[in-house]
Amino acid sequence: MELIKKLEKRVSVRNYTDAPVKKADIELMLEAVQLAPSGKNRQNWHFVIVEDRRVIQEIEAVIRKKNQTLAECIEDPNKKRKFEKLIEYALVFKRAPVTVLAFASEYRPTAMKEMLEAGLEEEAIQLERTAPGIQNLGAAMEHFCLAAADLGYGTCWMTSPNYAAKEIQETLPLDLSGFQLVAMTPLGVPGQIGERPKRKNIEEISSWI
Ligand SMILES: Cc1cc2nc3c(=O)[nH]c(=O)nc-3n(C[C@H](O)[C@H](O)[C@H](O)COP(=O)(O)O)c2cc1C
Repeated sequence: MELIKKLEKRVSVRNYTDAPVKKADIELMLEAVQLAPSGKNRQNWHFVIVEDRRVIQEIEAVIRKKNQTLAECIEDPNKKRKFEKLIEYALVFKRAPVTVLAFASEYRPTAMKEMLEAGLEEEAIQLERTAPGIQNLGAAMEHFCLAAADLGYGTCWMTSPNYAAKEIQETLPLDLSGFQLVAMTPLGVPGQIGERPKRKNIEEISSWI
């Protein structure tokens, strides 16, 4: 199956060369995003392509600062050190020439508003427990990463810098009110690629009735 071969091309890339990413290629990745499914076809996403090195460095700086602020709240020195070390996992994006930020705006599932107005509790309705608006963004993000891989670029879907999501958003010279940062990825020509992490077997991830 052709598609499986293409899916195998996508791995999380954490090392990049300095080679530039063509604007036309990024546009193709955004076309792939346009094709993603979303509840009520709401397409409640917005992708920010950051090519400006200074902005990438500012994003790095706010993540480092927030990491320190949070680390200071951890009393146990071992746990504190462990948390501080995780910063490298949150800064993978800076190794690539481009950083892509994926934002989502609020999405309310069908009839949610009406049911809330009827006095039902969110907990009883259950529709938002599975974060459908974020699921939409997940589909869009995967389309982006797959298109990038098909074009020979590397990505690494990242959420660990999200503890600084608000601060990152504030550094951008854009008005993104109504949106929240949900994920980000470096984008560039892969350098050394690590081994694909082992997958669970099919019996473990599925049941047949
Ligand atoms: C929602 C999500 C969040 C992730 N966050 C990070 C991250 O913050 N930093 C990172 O280096 N990798 C991150 N990853 C990449 C995963 O570690 C990776 O997808 C997983 O180990 C499987 O490897 P593969 O992508 O190479 O197949 C994330 C992946 C997903 C889907």
